[in-house]
This record gives sequence, C-alpha cells and structure tokens, in this order.
Amino acid sequence: MSAVDRHHTIVESAATAPVLVWADEAATAAFAAYWAKQPELAHAFIALHGDLGAGKTTLVRHLLQALGVTGRIKSPTYAVVEPYELPALNIWHFDFYRFNDPREWEEAGFRDIFASPGLKLAEWPDKAANVLPVADVTLHLRTLDDNRREVTLSPGTARGQALVASALEARA
Ligand SMILES: Nc1ncnc2c1ncn2[C@@H]1O[C@H](COP(=O)(O)OP(=O)(O)O)[C@@H](O)[C@H]1O
Ligand SMILES: [Mg+2]
Repeated sequence: MSAVDRHHTIVESAATAPVLVWADEAATAAFAAYWAKQPELAHAFIALHGDLGAGKTTLVRHLLQALGVTGRIKSPTYAVVEPYELPALNIWHFDFYRFNDPREWEEAGFRDIFASPGLKLAEWPDKAANVLPVADVTLHLRTLDDNRREVTLSPGTARGQALVASALEARA
C-alpha cells in the first residue's frame, strides 16, 4: 500500500473525470509528491478551480516543494504570476483572481510563458478563460469539511490523460 493510498480514496470514477477525496493536508501533500514524479507534469498546464480556501494554493505549494523549490512560496494574487527556476525546470504559478485586462496577456508576457516549456499552474483560470489555452488537467477542489477536500480531475489533452491516470495509479 502506497503512502497516497492510505490517505485518499476514490469515491467515484467515471472514465474521464475521477473524483478523489484527500482526507487531510497530508493526503494533499502525498498526492503532490506522487504527481511531481510523473514526467508528464514537467511541461503541463494545470488549471485549479475552487472556492477561496478550497486548497488551490496549498496544493501548488506542495507540488513546488516536491519538485525541489526551496524557500518562500507566496500566493501570487497581487502579482498574478510567481516564477520559479529550477535547474531543469521552469515553473509559473498564476493566480488570475485580479486579472481583468486582456491586454495584460500580451504585455506581461503571459502568452510567451504559455508557449514556453515548463510547468504552468493557474488558480482562478475562469478569470482568463478567453485567453488561456486548453489545460492538460483541470482540477476542481471542493471543501467537504475542515480537512477533507474533494477533487475532480478532468483531462483536456493526451498528456492530461496520462497525468489523470497516474493520479489513479497512486492507489495501486
Ligand atoms: N486536505 C487539504 N488540502 C489542502 N488544504 C487543506 C486541506 N485541509 C485543510 N486545508 C487548509 O485549507 C486552506 C486552503 O487554503 P488555500 O490553499 O490558500 O486555498 P485557495 O488557494 O483555494 O484559496 C489552508 O489553510 C490549508 O491548510
Ligand atoms: Mg489561492
């Protein structure tokens, strides 16, 4: 039994949109550690939906730490994007909550970022829906209670399908 298996259970598993439950933040961290090991994650675009407090930033922090980011990981709400440079990987953490000027897409270089190799993680992607490309995986996070989060994983590309499959293999 893997560490991830002990912490989350699949409550429903449709062909394209499995639903996981993370029992506590440790389960979220275990999922992040497992996902970070998947080669398909390196150049993926992951869209993160969910209400305030659902755990979008928390998941990103655990993913970044699992990928080797050290030091402070701040929420990019005011900057819209926080970049991270690892020796072998560039990562961009977006929070589009305050994104309302589509010109910023060009002027701030966001189009160039999404055309570059590297991992892109985006909170509030619906606020930039008309400019963002198709996400490899769209996650919907929902608060069940203080510690439990329900997570729906929807693949948007072949790479995303591999990533969703690996999320399920974590239990095998
Ligand atoms: N299973 C869980 N996964 C993620 N966060 C959790 C979990 N259980 C409790 N939390 C807490 O919920 C809060 C989520 O906040 P945050 O990640 O900033 O949400 P968001 O970015 O979606 O607004 C954090 O305080 C975190 O510690
Ligand atoms: Mg957040």
